[in-house]
Amino acid sequence: MAPGSGISLDPWFDNYADRASGLSASEVRALFAVASRPEVVSLAGGMPFVAALPVDKVQQSLARVMENSGHAALQYGSGQGLPALREHIIDVMALEGIRAGVDDVVVTTGSQQALDLVSKLFINPGDVILAESPSYVGAMGVFSSYQASVEHVAMDDEGMIPHALEERITFLRAAGKTIKFVYLIPNFQNPAGVTLSASRRLEILDIAHHHGVLIVEDNPYGLLWFDQPPPAAIRSVDDAGVIYLGSFSKTFAPGFRVGWVVAPHGIREKLVLASEAAILSPSSFSQMVLSDYFEHQDWRAQIDTFRALYRERRDTMADALKAHLPAISHTMPTGGFYLWLSLPEGLDSKEMLPRAITELVAYTPGTAFFANGHGRSNIRLAFCYPEPAFITEGVRRLSRVIAEELELAATFGPRSTDVAASSRGDGPPPDVA
Ligand SMILES: Cc1ncc(COP(=O)(O)O)c(C=O)c1O
Repeated sequence: MAPGSGISLDPWFDNYADRASGLSASEVRALFAVASRPEVVSLAGGMPFVAALPVDKVQQSLARVMENSGHAALQYGSGQGLPALREHIIDVMALEGIRAGVDDVVVTTGSQQALDLVSKLFINPGDVILAESPSYVGAMGVFSSYQASVEHVAMDDEGMIPHALEERITFLRAAGKTIKFVYLIPNFQNPAGVTLSASRRLEILDIAHHHGVLIVEDNPYGLLWFDQPPPAAIRSVDDAGVIYLGSFSKTFAPGFRVGWVVAPHGIREKLVLASEAAILSPSSFSQMVLSDYFEHQDWRAQIDTFRALYRERRDTMADALKAHLPAISHTMPTGGFYLWLSLPEGLDSKEMLPRAITELVAYTPGTAFFANGHGRSNIRLAFCYPEPAFITEGVRRLSRVIAEELELAATFGPRSTDVAASSRGDGPPPDVA
């Protein structure tokens, strides 16, 4: 619709299916177009630092694939994915305690497609998906495109709180709601950067068993730990009630668009059929290049390189926050890409963003990660992409923006309306650093 006119500028507006109403561009998207200008330090996007991946090694794999099996690489492939790559996926998952067979794995076009396929299989309009509070914006977008209602479950510095999950399930069931699955990002969560503790993994599994609710475990960051590995994957202790999603986007490169799902037998069959219906087969080319890379390169050493690089950036960001924004509390991730800030009372991260962009720094406002409008008092900062000197400069600029906003709030009153989020127990996690 044209704003305020009641008239749509799209002549096909009335023809869309109901679920298309769940597809809407976020308000911050337009601002991010501006934020991609080179003079802006972006602490917003979660882009992996692919420049740390030696291009010559990727090139060698490309050349070998084209020389030895060029025609197969350019052809359609199996709907479930290349068996050779699935073998490598088994080795990768073994690092997180998962034992699975090659037949259990379905290769997807990034784990984003896996989220779409799982949603397509399970969600009817009006079904409930339980997610951490906050949760990954890209997953919530998929769930709502299938007309699910996302209900957040409170989390703290150890991840989702088991008794809050139990209460939520009981409450929603009593209200006649159908809960389809619990969506969890247990390691170095996007956006909060927190990791689900080992004991809570088991408690949540027990609760899910008890109530007959599936778990979808989304784990793109698990191998990117800084000091010690996170607890074993939830899928490692339950292969019947957990759908596990993996990805090469953060440990190799997102440009290849390769991820995977491991699911209980019946679900896996359906996933293959759903994937074939959607894309016929994942890219043979990408899978073959990746497979060659795993065969010929020291991929474990490459992951070590990424780990050291992201740890340095996390440290740089934490140091900069301590130096420039000592009064602001934030999570202290032990891996991954993200750090979550809690702003002083009265500030509004969404309202503040245009000023930040004017000051040449970008971040993602917390509101992007809640389905219920909360998050105005939070900011997600990504430390994965900018070089350390830019991280420091970005945080310095952000400190100026926050100081100006605090002055404004002192003069004209608070801008944030997010106070209810914390007091209701389903708001942002408490501060842990
Ligand atoms: C938690 C989470 N899940 C899934 C994805 C999608 O990743 P990809 O489709 O590149 O594998 C992302 C990307 O940032 C993510 O953070």
